[in-house]
Amino acid sequence: MRSARLVVPLVALVLAACGAPATGSQVQAAKGALVGVTMPTTSSERWNHDGQNIKRDLEAKGHRVDLRYAENDVPNQVKQIEDQIRAGAKLLIIASVDGSALTKPLQLAADARIPVIAYDRLLRDSPNVDYYATFENFRVGVYQAESLLTGLGLRTGDGSPGPSTGPFTIELFAGSPDDNNATFFFNGAMSVLKPYLDSGTLVVRSGQTDFQAVTTLRWDGETARKRMEDILATSYRRTKLNGVLSPYDGISLGILTALKNNGYGPVFPIVTGQDAELPSVKSIIADQQYSTIYKDTRELATVTALMADAVLKERTPPQLNNLNDYYNGVKVVPAFLLNPVSVNKANYHKVLVESGYYTDDQLR
Ligand code: BGC
Repeated sequence: MRSARLVVPLVALVLAACGAPATGSQVQAAKGALVGVTMPTTSSERWNHDGQNIKRDLEAKGHRVDLRYAENDVPNQVKQIEDQIRAGAKLLIIASVDGSALTKPLQLAADARIPVIAYDRLLRDSPNVDYYATFENFRVGVYQAESLLTGLGLRTGDGSPGPSTGPFTIELFAGSPDDNNATFFFNGAMSVLKPYLDSGTLVVRSGQTDFQAVTTLRWDGETARKRMEDILATSYRRTKLNGVLSPYDGISLGILTALKNNGYGPVFPIVTGQDAELPSVKSIIADQQYSTIYKDTRELATVTALMADAVLKERTPPQLNNLNDYYNGVKVVPAFLLNPVSVNKANYHKVLVESGYYTDDQLR
Protein backbone atom coordinates (compact mmCIF):
# COMPACT_ATOMS: atom_id res chain seq x y z
CA MET A 1 0.00 0.00 0.00
CA ARG A 2 1.23 3.50 -0.82
CA SER A 3 1.50 6.17 1.80
CA ALA A 4 -1.20 8.86 1.89
CA ARG A 5 1.27 11.43 0.52
CA LEU A 6 1.38 9.62 -2.78
CA VAL A 7 -2.29 10.00 -3.61
CA VAL A 8 -2.14 13.80 -3.32
CA PRO A 9 -3.21 15.21 -6.73
CA LEU A 10 -0.44 16.75 -8.81
CA VAL A 11 -1.87 20.26 -8.60
CA ALA A 12 -1.71 20.04 -4.85
CA LEU A 13 1.90 18.95 -5.12
CA VAL A 14 2.76 22.19 -6.87
CA LEU A 15 0.68 24.34 -4.58
CA ALA A 16 2.28 22.68 -1.61
CA ALA A 17 5.69 23.23 -3.10
CA CYS A 18 6.95 24.85 0.03
CA GLY A 19 5.73 21.88 2.06
CA ALA A 20 4.08 21.83 5.44
CA PRO A 21 6.61 22.11 8.22
CA ALA A 22 7.58 18.72 9.60
CA THR A 23 6.92 18.00 13.24
CA GLY A 24 9.82 17.53 15.65
CA SER A 25 9.32 13.79 15.75
CA GLN A 26 9.29 13.52 11.93
CA VAL A 27 12.57 15.38 11.75
CA GLN A 28 13.97 13.17 14.51
CA ALA A 29 12.81 10.04 12.67
CA ALA A 30 14.43 11.23 9.45
CA LYS A 31 17.80 11.92 11.06
CA GLY A 32 20.23 9.14 10.39
CA ALA A 33 17.79 7.37 8.06
CA LEU A 34 19.32 4.76 5.80
CA VAL A 35 19.05 5.69 2.13
CA GLY A 36 19.66 3.00 -0.49
CA VAL A 37 21.32 4.35 -3.62
CA THR A 38 21.79 2.13 -6.66
CA MET A 39 23.73 3.20 -9.75
CA PRO A 40 24.08 1.36 -13.09
CA THR A 41 27.84 0.98 -13.54
CA THR A 42 31.30 2.11 -12.48
CA SER A 43 32.52 1.72 -16.08
CA SER A 44 31.41 5.25 -16.97
CA GLU A 45 32.93 8.22 -15.21
CA ARG A 46 29.68 10.11 -14.78
CA TRP A 47 28.02 7.46 -12.59
CA ASN A 48 31.04 7.41 -10.29
CA HIS A 49 30.66 11.16 -9.83
CA ASP A 50 26.90 10.82 -9.36
CA GLY A 51 27.28 8.19 -6.64
CA GLN A 52 29.96 10.09 -4.73
CA ASN A 53 28.05 13.37 -4.96
CA ILE A 54 24.75 11.95 -3.71
CA LYS A 55 26.46 10.11 -0.87
CA ARG A 56 28.26 13.28 0.21
CA ASP A 57 25.13 15.44 0.02
CA LEU A 58 22.94 12.99 1.91
CA GLU A 59 25.56 12.41 4.59
CA ALA A 60 25.87 16.16 5.01
CA LYS A 61 22.16 16.14 5.84
CA GLY A 62 22.76 13.52 8.52
CA HIS A 63 21.57 10.46 6.60
CA ARG A 64 23.33 7.14 6.17
CA VAL A 65 23.92 5.90 2.63
CA ASP A 66 24.29 2.44 1.16
CA LEU A 67 25.69 3.04 -2.35
CA ARG A 68 25.79 0.13 -4.80
CA TYR A 69 26.78 -0.27 -8.43
CA ALA A 70 25.07 -2.97 -10.51
CA GLU A 71 27.76 -3.15 -13.22
CA ASN A 72 25.06 -3.11 -15.90
CA ASP A 73 23.62 -6.41 -14.65
CA VAL A 74 19.86 -6.35 -14.13
CA PRO A 75 19.53 -9.29 -11.66
CA ASN A 76 22.39 -7.76 -9.68
CA GLN A 77 20.51 -4.46 -9.40
CA VAL A 78 17.29 -6.24 -8.40
CA LYS A 79 19.19 -8.03 -5.63
CA GLN A 80 20.90 -4.84 -4.43
CA ILE A 81 17.55 -3.09 -4.08
CA GLU A 82 16.01 -6.06 -2.28
CA ASP A 83 19.01 -6.12 0.08
CA GLN A 84 18.55 -2.43 0.83
CA ILE A 85 14.85 -2.95 1.57
CA ARG A 86 15.72 -5.82 3.92
CA ALA A 87 18.41 -3.70 5.59
CA GLY A 88 15.73 -1.16 6.56
CA ALA A 89 16.26 1.59 3.99
CA LYS A 90 13.79 4.45 4.50
CA LEU A 91 14.12 5.72 0.93
CA LEU A 92 15.53 4.43 -2.36
CA ILE A 93 17.30 6.43 -5.06
CA ILE A 94 17.65 4.39 -8.23
CA ALA A 95 19.49 5.00 -11.51
CA SER A 96 18.38 1.89 -13.35
CA VAL A 97 20.24 -0.40 -15.71
CA ASP A 98 16.95 -1.32 -17.43
CA GLY A 99 14.14 1.07 -16.57
CA SER A 100 11.39 -1.51 -16.99
CA ALA A 101 13.02 -4.39 -15.15
CA LEU A 102 12.51 -3.25 -11.56
CA THR A 103 8.75 -3.58 -11.13
CA LYS A 104 9.11 -6.41 -8.57
CA PRO A 105 11.57 -4.73 -6.19
CA LEU A 106 9.58 -1.50 -6.59
CA GLN A 107 6.46 -3.35 -5.45
CA LEU A 108 8.40 -4.70 -2.47
CA ALA A 109 9.44 -1.15 -1.62
CA ALA A 110 5.84 0.04 -1.88
CA ASP A 111 4.65 -2.79 0.36
CA ALA A 112 7.19 -1.63 2.95
CA ARG A 113 6.08 2.02 2.41
CA ILE A 114 9.52 3.02 1.18
CA PRO A 115 9.42 5.99 -1.21
CA VAL A 116 11.42 5.82 -4.44
CA ILE A 117 13.18 8.55 -6.40
CA ALA A 118 14.16 7.73 -9.98
CA TYR A 119 17.58 9.23 -10.58
CA ASP A 120 18.44 10.51 -14.07
CA ARG A 121 16.71 7.54 -15.79
CA LEU A 122 12.94 7.11 -15.50
CA LEU A 123 11.69 3.94 -13.80
CA ARG A 124 9.03 2.59 -16.12
CA ASP A 125 5.90 0.44 -15.98
CA SER A 126 5.38 0.79 -12.24
CA PRO A 127 3.08 2.94 -10.11
CA ASN A 128 5.64 2.74 -7.32
CA VAL A 129 7.86 5.66 -8.31
CA ASP A 130 7.34 8.87 -6.38
CA TYR A 131 9.64 11.46 -7.94
CA TYR A 132 12.16 11.86 -10.71
CA ALA A 133 15.29 14.03 -10.85
CA THR A 134 16.96 14.42 -14.23
CA PHE A 135 18.00 16.81 -17.00
CA GLU A 136 16.00 18.22 -19.91
CA ASN A 137 16.56 15.02 -21.89
CA PHE A 138 14.81 16.09 -25.12
CA ARG A 139 16.93 19.25 -25.09
CA VAL A 140 20.10 17.14 -24.79
CA GLY A 141 19.23 15.57 -28.16
CA VAL A 142 18.41 18.96 -29.67
CA TYR A 143 21.81 20.29 -28.57
CA GLN A 144 23.59 17.23 -29.95
CA ALA A 145 21.97 17.66 -33.37
CA GLU A 146 22.55 21.42 -33.38
CA SER A 147 26.24 20.93 -32.65
CA LEU A 148 26.45 18.35 -35.45
CA LEU A 149 25.00 20.97 -37.84
CA THR A 150 27.33 23.66 -36.49
CA GLY A 151 30.35 21.39 -36.86
CA LEU A 152 29.38 20.65 -40.46
CA GLY A 153 28.99 24.37 -41.15
CA LEU A 154 25.27 24.12 -41.92
CA ARG A 155 24.41 26.38 -39.02
CA THR A 156 26.22 28.97 -36.94
CA GLY A 157 26.35 29.07 -33.16
CA ASP A 158 23.44 31.54 -33.03
CA GLY A 159 21.19 29.30 -35.13
CA SER A 160 21.43 31.18 -38.42
CA PRO A 161 22.41 29.31 -41.63
CA GLY A 162 26.12 28.51 -41.78
CA PRO A 163 28.66 28.85 -44.61
CA SER A 164 28.15 25.30 -45.97
CA THR A 165 25.29 23.95 -48.02
CA GLY A 166 26.11 20.24 -48.09
CA PRO A 167 25.05 17.64 -48.91
CA PHE A 168 26.87 15.80 -46.12
CA THR A 169 26.91 12.14 -45.14
CA ILE A 170 26.08 11.32 -41.52
CA GLU A 171 25.35 8.22 -39.46
CA LEU A 172 23.13 8.01 -36.40
CA PHE A 173 23.75 6.27 -33.07
CA ALA A 174 21.29 6.08 -30.18
CA GLY A 175 21.69 4.86 -26.60
CA SER A 176 20.42 1.72 -24.89
CA PRO A 177 16.85 0.83 -25.87
CA ASP A 178 16.00 -0.11 -22.28
CA ASP A 179 16.87 3.40 -21.05
CA ASN A 180 13.97 5.84 -21.38
CA ASN A 181 16.46 8.68 -21.87
CA ALA A 182 17.75 7.15 -25.11
CA THR A 183 14.39 7.77 -26.80
CA PHE A 184 14.25 11.35 -25.52
CA PHE A 185 17.78 12.09 -26.78
CA PHE A 186 17.06 10.53 -30.18
CA ASN A 187 13.70 12.25 -30.62
CA GLY A 188 15.23 15.58 -29.62
CA ALA A 189 18.02 15.14 -32.16
CA MET A 190 15.69 14.00 -34.93
CA SER A 191 13.41 16.99 -34.37
CA VAL A 192 16.37 19.09 -35.56
CA LEU A 193 17.83 16.76 -38.21
CA LYS A 194 14.62 15.65 -39.94
CA PRO A 195 14.21 18.67 -42.27
CA TYR A 196 17.86 18.31 -43.37
CA LEU A 197 17.34 14.58 -44.00
CA ASP A 198 14.08 15.22 -45.85
CA SER A 199 15.70 17.81 -48.12
CA GLY A 200 18.74 15.62 -48.84
CA THR A 201 21.16 18.09 -47.21
CA LEU A 202 22.07 15.25 -44.85
CA VAL A 203 22.28 11.70 -46.17
CA VAL A 204 22.47 8.53 -44.06
CA ARG A 205 24.10 6.14 -46.55
CA SER A 206 23.55 3.05 -44.37
CA GLY A 207 19.81 3.75 -44.49
CA GLN A 208 19.68 3.10 -40.73
CA THR A 209 17.52 5.89 -39.38
CA ASP A 210 14.95 4.19 -37.13
CA PHE A 211 15.53 4.31 -33.40
CA GLN A 212 15.49 0.50 -33.10
CA ALA A 213 18.06 0.14 -35.89
CA VAL A 214 20.55 2.56 -34.33
CA THR A 215 20.42 1.73 -30.59
CA THR A 216 23.50 0.63 -28.64
CA LEU A 217 22.72 -1.88 -25.91
CA ARG A 218 23.99 -0.72 -22.48
CA TRP A 219 25.60 2.31 -24.16
CA ASP A 220 28.60 0.09 -24.89
CA GLY A 221 31.49 1.78 -26.76
CA GLU A 222 32.76 -1.50 -28.19
CA THR A 223 29.33 -2.32 -29.63
CA ALA A 224 29.33 1.12 -31.24
CA ARG A 225 32.85 0.61 -32.63
CA LYS A 226 31.77 -2.63 -34.32
CA ARG A 227 28.62 -1.09 -35.79
CA MET A 228 30.63 1.88 -37.09
CA GLU A 229 33.23 -0.48 -38.68
CA ASP A 230 30.43 -2.45 -40.38
CA ILE A 231 28.83 0.69 -41.72
CA LEU A 232 32.15 2.05 -42.99
CA ALA A 233 32.85 -1.24 -44.74
CA THR A 234 29.47 -1.45 -46.42
CA SER A 235 28.48 2.15 -47.14
CA TYR A 236 31.64 4.29 -47.19
CA ARG A 237 34.08 2.48 -49.45
CA ARG A 238 34.09 5.25 -51.99
CA THR A 239 32.48 8.12 -50.09
CA LYS A 240 33.73 9.89 -46.97
CA LEU A 241 31.63 10.04 -43.84
CA ASN A 242 31.21 13.65 -42.66
CA GLY A 243 29.45 13.40 -39.31
CA VAL A 244 28.10 11.10 -36.62
CA LEU A 245 25.31 11.76 -34.15
CA SER A 246 26.57 10.06 -31.00
CA PRO A 247 24.50 10.16 -27.79
CA TYR A 248 27.24 9.49 -25.22
CA ASP A 249 31.00 10.05 -24.88
CA GLY A 250 31.80 6.33 -24.40
CA ILE A 251 30.05 5.62 -27.71
CA SER A 252 31.82 8.58 -29.37
CA LEU A 253 35.23 7.16 -28.45
CA GLY A 254 34.24 3.77 -29.92
CA ILE A 255 33.16 5.53 -33.11
CA LEU A 256 36.44 7.48 -33.28
CA THR A 257 38.42 4.24 -32.88
CA ALA A 258 36.52 2.74 -35.81
CA LEU A 259 37.22 5.86 -37.86
CA LYS A 260 40.96 5.73 -37.05
CA ASN A 261 41.05 2.01 -37.94
CA ASN A 262 39.63 2.97 -41.32
CA GLY A 263 42.14 5.66 -42.19
CA TYR A 264 40.32 8.78 -40.95
CA GLY A 265 42.35 11.55 -39.31
CA PRO A 266 44.00 13.89 -38.55
CA VAL A 267 40.82 15.65 -39.65
CA PHE A 268 37.82 13.70 -38.36
CA PRO A 269 34.13 13.69 -39.15
CA ILE A 270 32.05 15.76 -36.72
CA VAL A 271 31.27 13.44 -33.76
CA THR A 272 28.97 14.56 -30.94
CA GLY A 273 28.73 13.14 -27.39
CA GLN A 274 27.37 13.55 -23.89
CA ASP A 275 28.55 13.73 -20.28
CA ALA A 276 31.78 15.73 -20.67
CA GLU A 277 33.79 12.70 -19.58
CA LEU A 278 37.49 13.39 -19.16
CA PRO A 279 38.77 11.29 -22.14
CA SER A 280 36.22 12.96 -24.40
CA VAL A 281 37.03 16.48 -23.25
CA LYS A 282 40.69 15.71 -23.97
CA SER A 283 39.64 14.37 -27.37
CA ILE A 284 37.75 17.62 -28.06
CA ILE A 285 40.82 19.65 -27.13
CA ALA A 286 42.85 17.43 -29.51
CA ASP A 287 40.37 18.15 -32.38
CA GLN A 288 39.04 14.60 -32.57
CA GLN A 289 35.59 14.47 -30.92
CA TYR A 290 33.75 17.66 -31.85
CA SER A 291 31.37 18.24 -28.94
CA THR A 292 29.76 16.87 -25.83
CA ILE A 293 26.84 17.77 -23.58
CA TYR A 294 27.74 18.77 -20.06
CA LYS A 295 25.35 17.77 -17.32
CA ASP A 296 26.47 18.98 -13.92
CA THR A 297 26.12 15.85 -11.79
CA ARG A 298 26.89 17.96 -8.70
CA GLU A 299 23.63 19.87 -9.27
CA LEU A 300 21.67 16.68 -9.90
CA ALA A 301 22.97 15.22 -6.66
CA THR A 302 22.11 18.38 -4.73
CA VAL A 303 18.56 18.44 -6.07
CA THR A 304 18.09 14.74 -5.39
CA ALA A 305 19.41 15.04 -1.84
CA LEU A 306 17.02 17.95 -1.20
CA MET A 307 14.15 15.88 -2.61
CA ALA A 308 15.14 12.88 -0.52
CA ASP A 309 15.48 14.94 2.64
CA ALA A 310 12.02 16.46 2.14
CA VAL A 311 10.43 13.06 1.48
CA LEU A 312 12.08 11.57 4.56
CA LYS A 313 10.61 14.42 6.59
CA GLU A 314 7.24 13.70 4.95
CA ARG A 315 7.19 16.98 3.11
CA THR A 316 6.46 17.48 -0.56
CA PRO A 317 9.77 18.22 -2.27
CA PRO A 318 9.95 21.85 -3.38
CA GLN A 319 12.19 20.90 -6.32
CA LEU A 320 9.57 20.00 -8.94
CA ASN A 321 9.31 21.79 -12.27
CA ASN A 322 7.79 19.24 -14.62
CA LEU A 323 4.51 17.50 -13.96
CA ASN A 324 3.66 16.48 -17.54
CA ASP A 325 6.38 14.93 -19.62
CA TYR A 326 7.47 11.83 -17.79
CA TYR A 327 4.69 9.29 -18.20
CA ASN A 328 6.22 5.96 -17.25
CA GLY A 329 3.57 3.74 -18.82
CA VAL A 330 1.44 3.79 -15.66
CA LYS A 331 1.63 7.29 -14.22
CA VAL A 332 3.17 10.68 -14.83
CA VAL A 333 6.10 10.93 -12.44
CA PRO A 334 6.55 14.44 -10.97
CA ALA A 335 10.01 15.56 -11.96
CA PHE A 336 12.69 18.16 -11.54
CA LEU A 337 14.63 18.84 -14.73
CA LEU A 338 18.03 20.54 -14.88
CA ASN A 339 19.58 22.27 -17.88
CA PRO A 340 22.27 20.64 -20.00
CA VAL A 341 24.98 22.73 -21.68
CA SER A 342 26.46 22.15 -25.13
CA VAL A 343 30.27 22.12 -25.05
CA ASN A 344 32.90 22.21 -27.78
CA LYS A 345 36.47 23.40 -28.08
CA ALA A 346 35.38 27.05 -28.08
CA ASN A 347 33.66 27.02 -24.67
CA TYR A 348 35.02 24.01 -22.74
CA HIS A 349 37.32 26.14 -20.62
CA LYS A 350 34.59 28.53 -19.55
CA VAL A 351 32.00 25.81 -18.90
CA LEU A 352 34.11 23.01 -17.44
CA VAL A 353 37.19 24.62 -15.93
CA GLU A 354 35.88 27.98 -14.72
CA SER A 355 32.95 26.18 -13.05
CA GLY A 356 35.41 23.99 -11.15
CA TYR A 357 34.15 20.74 -12.74
CA TYR A 358 37.68 19.99 -14.02
CA THR A 359 41.04 21.60 -13.41
CA ASP A 360 43.40 22.58 -16.20
CA ASP A 361 45.79 19.91 -14.88
CA GLN A 362 43.21 17.16 -15.34
CA LEU A 363 42.74 18.16 -18.97
CA ARG A 364 46.45 18.16 -19.86
C1 BGC B 1 22.31 9.33 -19.10
C2 BGC B 1 23.45 9.88 -19.91
C3 BGC B 1 24.52 8.84 -20.11
C4 BGC B 1 23.96 7.52 -20.54
C5 BGC B 1 25.01 6.44 -20.54
C6 BGC B 1 21.82 8.06 -19.73
O1 BGC B 1 20.75 7.56 -19.02
O2 BGC B 1 21.28 10.28 -19.02
O3 BGC B 1 23.99 11.00 -19.26
O4 BGC B 1 25.39 9.29 -21.11
O5 BGC B 1 22.90 7.14 -19.71
O6 BGC B 1 25.52 6.24 -19.26
